[in-house]
Amino acid sequence: MNRIVLNVDAASTRISRHVYGHFAEHLGRCIYDGFWVGTDSPIPNTRGIRNDLVDALRAIDIPNLRWPGGCFADDYHWRDGVGPQAQRASMVNAHWGGVTEDNSFGTHEFMDLCELLACEPYVCGNVGSGTVREMSDWVQYMTASASCPMSDLRAANGRPDPWKVRYWGVGNETWGCGGNMRVEYYADVYRRYATYLRNQPDNRLYRIAVGANSDDYHWTDVMMRDAGPMMDGLSLHYYTVTGSWSKKGSATEFSADEWMTCMRKAYRIEELVTRHATIMDRYDPDKRVGLIVDEWGTWHDVEPGTNPGFLYQQNTLRDALVAGLSLNSFNTHADRVHMANIAQTINVLQAMALTSAERLVLTPTYHVFEMYKGHQNASLIPLVLDIEQIEFDGAQIPRVSASASVSDAGRVLVTLCNLDPSAPTTLTCELRGVRATSVTGRVLTAPETNAHNTFDDPDRVTPQPFDGAEIDGATLIVRMPAKSVVVLQVE
Ligand code: AHR
Repeated sequence: MNRIVLNVDAASTRISRHVYGHFAEHLGRCIYDGFWVGTDSPIPNTRGIRNDLVDALRAIDIPNLRWPGGCFADDYHWRDGVGPQAQRASMVNAHWGGVTEDNSFGTHEFMDLCELLACEPYVCGNVGSGTVREMSDWVQYMTASASCPMSDLRAANGRPDPWKVRYWGVGNETWGCGGNMRVEYYADVYRRYATYLRNQPDNRLYRIAVGANSDDYHWTDVMMRDAGPMMDGLSLHYYTVTGSWSKKGSATEFSADEWMTCMRKAYRIEELVTRHATIMDRYDPDKRVGLIVDEWGTWHDVEPGTNPGFLYQQNTLRDALVAGLSLNSFNTHADRVHMANIAQTINVLQAMALTSAERLVLTPTYHVFEMYKGHQNASLIPLVLDIEQIEFDGAQIPRVSASASVSDAGRVLVTLCNLDPSAPTTLTCELRGVRATSVTGRVLTAPETNAHNTFDDPDRVTPQPFDGAEIDGATLIVRMPAKSVVVLQVE
């Protein structure tokens, strides 16, 4: 029997809404032919930005958007992307397909997108091939209110008022595509850049240093030791790759074993967050510095016949379970995980939506973000879990992943994932410190493990009403179908 105790009266830590963040890189069809269709497009748009995408992302309360990369960020020179579009310099996007980037989507277009989405921008600056001055100028260009060469240039380009930009990344993957640095070197580079990224009287930056690749604990240790006081956030990147990096496996054609391997690898996020957080605790016991998981999600082989450099993959119920268990883990570590950004929003990796000309389809992963949105800014309910483990491949993963929160209005939200591909399970949840009178729920599941939404069948995997939960005194009994994500609202 699987059992969870929810200590509702002990809830205190806020789950930052920024844990539900997103990432849009100049990669494949994420920006161009994704968000950006241009003002001449027959696809309904606002100043070149697709309206249906904006509506869909507003519906999940998108809190922030990271841009312009990824690896692209350390090749990106922001001045190429401001001023009259027809006069902008072009470049080759060396990381992603070798395509020509004409810079028609630049700083002003990105900030317009964030305003349409009503979300906060998270800008990632260029350390790998840039300079301190270039990044410092970009911050001033976006945020300076007093007259100076950068704010004057911004005004000349049509935006007299400064924008508000809080989140600023100092490079991306400086251990890899962002410069192949050793952490001992980057820690000093970071300190130097951070010195010249200046706050403005009405704009305070939240500076995010490049953090570890997956389980590189040494990286976290050195960064916290040598640069901790100068940062607000330290990143972590972790992708769920079912096979190997050279043969990752298909997004839609997989065996029951591959389902389990994917769950096992996805569940590793729990261990990674726990261990990086433990190191951070040594230097920052007050948990001032956020662990910013600014790239996470599944990475499968590209869809057959598509450009290998565009990272276009389908998205099944399996991806939805990965999203659900990862978000449960981030919620659980709300004291240290202050932001997370799934990679990537449109048409790339574990996307929220896929587009084809004027058509748009929402993925099962999108629906998980919609089902979980009530956790944003709610208070985390501490759980005691007594969950059966599934043995697989010499490892154990829990049959059920869970997290719960309570809103300021007293509404309890419980999100559960049954990771088993074939067995239903029953769960009892003891509610402490609250008198529950009603429960309503929704479930995301499908008959097949690889069920997914297509342009011709866009509603194959969508949330449905759930009648498998009942209240018995102070206990909630939940009968979960196999391979399902369930959200319950208790009042
Ligand atoms: O998200 C795709 C790529 O994965 C990013 O550009 C890079 O930061 C990471 O390696």
